[in-house]
Amino acid sequence: MKALILSGGTGTRLRPLTYTSAKQLLPLANKPILFYIIEKVVKAGIMEIGIIVGDTHKEVKETVGDGGRWGAKISYIHQPRALGLAHAVKTAANFLGDSDFLMILGDNVFSMDLDIVIRNFYANKANTTILLHRVDNPSQYGVAVVKDGCLAEVIEKPKNYISDLIITGVYVFDKTIFPAIEQTDPSARGEYEITDAIRKQLEMGGKITYELIRGWWKDTGKLEDMLEANRLILDELESEYPITAFPGSLISGKVIIGENVTIKDSIIQGPAHIDQDTVIINSYIGPYSSLGKRVKIEECELDNCIILNDTRLTGINKRISKSLIGRNVSIRGGINRRPLINSFLVGDNSEINL
Ligand code: TTP
Repeated sequence: MKALILSGGTGTRLRPLTYTSAKQLLPLANKPILFYIIEKVVKAGIMEIGIIVGDTHKEVKETVGDGGRWGAKISYIHQPRALGLAHAVKTAANFLGDSDFLMILGDNVFSMDLDIVIRNFYANKANTTILLHRVDNPSQYGVAVVKDGCLAEVIEKPKNYISDLIITGVYVFDKTIFPAIEQTDPSARGEYEITDAIRKQLEMGGKITYELIRGWWKDTGKLEDMLEANRLILDELESEYPITAFPGSLISGKVIIGENVTIKDSIIQGPAHIDQDTVIINSYIGPYSSLGKRVKIEECELDNCIILNDTRLTGINKRISKSLIGRNVSIRGGINRRPLINSFLVGDNSEINL
């Protein structure tokens, strides 16, 4: 079995960050989302991995490399335009050949291992096996109706309630997905949808089985989902107490601190992840914060934040919460104003003087 990870797309919902960076490389607990996915694929025993790339191909290739660090072989497949998930599969036809393959969306993170899905696919001699998730608000998603362990129907964003099971971003396909894609027309938004291709496969007599998500699953396409995924991953971190005592500082909870970090006269309340060469002075770093490399926080309070490399936050007298701040951003504080919470979605290379 091969694996296909989709890391093309446009990432419009995470602009402006995605103007300069691939959303699949945004870090959760200071590790790119794509790395979590590759680790799951390798853990499931799949070593031949194809990654679909689009406009951000250079950055993805440079960051991920040839797969050697995971003992895997990674090939890159360029999708010139983001014409949909089914189009991405078609673009990878040469790489996939006749092989069965596991497909994962490059912005999905989850806690479960994938061997369960692969076992289901082979044990049931399925043409496709999908991973489903039970949610309260299914109308925004591709919704599945199931019967006797198999998919009976799939409807994209149904207006009326048909089921609370939604399709996540993990699929196992055999080669019968290709003729189904050939017969799939573009949707109203102009994309070749994988849900339409799966529906075609059903119509063509395909057997489609499913597994339910175990543990948690997050599609990180939006800011709040990124922050929630960061929280879920930080919660799972093993506790690591710093060997060095930091002058005048109190560190509690699960906190991971990289090399050459300076913490002075500050409170760090985990879970938190602080990457190397970062400096924290006279500040409070609250739960669920991930600070990248060479970040500088001085006279600030923050929690529930993802702060990317080389960003500097100074003298902000309101707490920064629920924020995703890009690389090389500078925010400098001013006078005390209400409301007391700041919330940012700021792109790379920004400069804010409050
Ligand atoms: P989406 O999140 O559905 O699309 P997107 O990345 O374009 O984001 P947005 O909706 O905010 O504009 O894509 C899911 C994953 O699949 C993501 O990792 C990007 C990838 N993808 C491709 O590789 N090719 C495509 O043609 C599309 C649509 C997505």
